[in-house]
Amino acid sequence: MNLPVEKGFDHTFDLLTEGYRFMQKRFDSSDTKVFETRLLGKKMICMVGRDAVELFYDPARFQRSRAVPKRVQKTLFGENGVQTMDGAAHHARKALFLSLMTEDRISFLHTLTLEQWRVRAQKWTTGQPVILFDEAEEVLCKVACLWAGVPLRESEVAKRAYDLGAMIDALGGVGPRYREGRNARIRTEDWIQSLIEEYRQGTIPHTGSALEAMATHRDENGNLLDSHMAAVELINVIRPIVAVARFVVFGMLALYQFPEEKIKLNHHGEHYMENFVQEVRRYYPFAPFLGAMAKTDFDWKGVQFKKGDTVLIDLYGTNHDPESWTAPDQFRPERFDEETVDMYNFVPQGGGNPATGHRCPGEDVTVTIMKASLSFFVNELDYEVLQGQDLSINMTRLPTLPASRMVIRKN
Ligand code: HEM
Repeated sequence: MNLPVEKGFDHTFDLLTEGYRFMQKRFDSSDTKVFETRLLGKKMICMVGRDAVELFYDPARFQRSRAVPKRVQKTLFGENGVQTMDGAAHHARKALFLSLMTEDRISFLHTLTLEQWRVRAQKWTTGQPVILFDEAEEVLCKVACLWAGVPLRESEVAKRAYDLGAMIDALGGVGPRYREGRNARIRTEDWIQSLIEEYRQGTIPHTGSALEAMATHRDENGNLLDSHMAAVELINVIRPIVAVARFVVFGMLALYQFPEEKIKLNHHGEHYMENFVQEVRRYYPFAPFLGAMAKTDFDWKGVQFKKGDTVLIDLYGTNHDPESWTAPDQFRPERFDEETVDMYNFVPQGGGNPATGHRCPGEDVTVTIMKASLSFFVNELDYEVLQGQDLSINMTRLPTLPASRMVIRKN
């Protein structure tokens, strides 16, 4: 196959202005699932679809070290964390994250999330508008810190939630949005690093928490992580819990856009709720794409990859690929009972096996928080969505949200 090559010197500007649709537009115009372009001054091969995800997650062909741009490490991920590791070192670090996700701790998380929404909603005045996204980031910041054993005073919640949110929001940001994310990361790393140090000095109690796990973890040579690295990894637990606020808002938007879903949730119980949150994660845009670097020269479906080539895999596009999904642009939770769903075609948080590769270790955490949050709104709160707000989703912004951040009011 001849690899379609996009003409022009560099298309970074197009990526930043076209967002989630950048790759899809080019797959459609060349009628392929792979093309070559230039981004950040480098040749990049863009791919979409189940088979491409399977290739992308083959550790014999791709590595992550040197594939994650520094600007993403300085905002979203933190420098030299688990996302940039390969091989045995990655495996050991990943096991640390997965060890936090026991059944007991997930069930504790469900309880915490419900409790924190109840406490928060008590503070809302009947009839007064509340911006759901901002509320969700603060509620989930408290949940994240309680769950991870991170001490947090009530007076600090807004500030810490803002910083954790700003790191996520910096994803496709340039100029002020990027700088805001970088400064938020510096402040957050200082805060969490000092807690790691306090824990090691014995001034924070042992609670079997993520804080304890990161502070006491030893690498393959038996050494403790330095306190900065331990902080980066602990932030890799609390920041993404705050990020779930975006999926909670999308779930609430789905309840509003598809009112029959609320009725089905009331009638069909737990199993339907599971399908509903999975469909929210598939349907709405969040993680756009991922990058990796070819370790060797190889041929795949007639396309030549050279050692050092960077590839980008389109996650949003794969979740909407008509070769994997029937009517992918329809919101239909039932599809999770009817269609073939596997670790390469359903990739809202990356693909492949989380235990052996880079797929997100936080999917159970995400689904649990979504279920607890949505069940609170469906079963416990009488609310309405404010009329006249702009709920449109700007697909050119990475990451995106409904424009109004979803305004509701308690009845
Ligand atoms: C809003 C929900 C979330 C989304 C959209 C999301 C998305 C992702 C994506 C796309 C990746 C990259 C996968 C790859 O590189 O192949 C990832 C990795 C990761 N996620 Fe999540 N995630 C979410 C929630 C969580 C939660 C709740 C946690 C932890 C409590 C978490 C912890 C991590 C970690 C530690 C990694 C790095 C894994 C590795 O490199 O091996 N994420 N996530």
